[in-house]
Amino acid sequence: MNAIHELATRLRQARRVLVLTGAGISAESGIATFRDAQSGLWARFRPEDLATPEAFQRDPALVWRWYAWRREQVAEARPNAAHYAVAELARRVPTVLVTQNVDDLHQRAGSVDAICLHGSIARTLCSVTHRDIDADWLAANPGEPPRSPHHADGLARPGVIWFGENLPQNVLELACDAARACDVILAVGTSAMVYPAAGLPSIAQHHGAWFAEINPQATPLTPQADLVIAAPAGIALPAALTVWKES
Ligand code: OAD
Repeated sequence: MNAIHELATRLRQARRVLVLTGAGISAESGIATFRDAQSGLWARFRPEDLATPEAFQRDPALVWRWYAWRREQVAEARPNAAHYAVAELARRVPTVLVTQNVDDLHQRAGSVDAICLHGSIARTLCSVTHRDIDADWLAANPGEPPRSPHHADGLARPGVIWFGENLPQNVLELACDAARACDVILAVGTSAMVYPAAGLPSIAQHHGAWFAEINPQATPLTPQADLVIAAPAGIALPAALTVWKES
């Protein structure tokens, strides 16, 4: 049986699927990944200048503008075949989607209830209270960044998780619960370098799940995968759903 057929068979037989996605699933939508050698964001920018609380303290305007630039790219992008395939999968079998991505391409492709481990680039928070800041308020209060309406010492900040920050406990618990409960887990387009997300396949396997990785490049998780599909997500995932339909 070839790899796509095996994936289709496992998905068809699954009772609960967990799909863990990373930046690679949005690559075919034209959104740069972080760690790809030539095109990745961390090949061109230093995360410690842009994606840490200390960076924001040091130069809030620089960080604010960088996220505004990325927000514009996301707004112009469209979901690709892989995002649509994940949404379609959830219509066929109970599926929990856990994404590290802060773009909203899964949601725009029809995935509801995605667990967004690293927040959302569309959200803005108070830097002190972490309360959401309303988009209408932001539109009426320009600034790079504006002061927070929720706290005298606060600034508006992107609603994403930065290096050195903890994931919200409830979000992490939901993801870990899903990992323990699934019988099939797919890791799609993640380099598996960032924890706790990269630990979810091990949790799932520890509880008996079958694990497939879809990624053109090998990752630290590749040796432990039950199936490796070294192909772009936008080809592999729709192909598996087509084979499922035809079988
Ligand atoms: P990375 O940029 O680290 O990894 C992207 C992965 O996608 C790589 O392993 C690529 O080989 C793979 N890839 C590229 N094109 C692909 C395609 N068409 N189909 C499938 N896979 C493809 O991105 P993440 O693993 O998501 O965190 O990075 C994890 C976290 O590190 C991000 O959420 C972000 C980053 O710093 C925060 O911002 C907190």
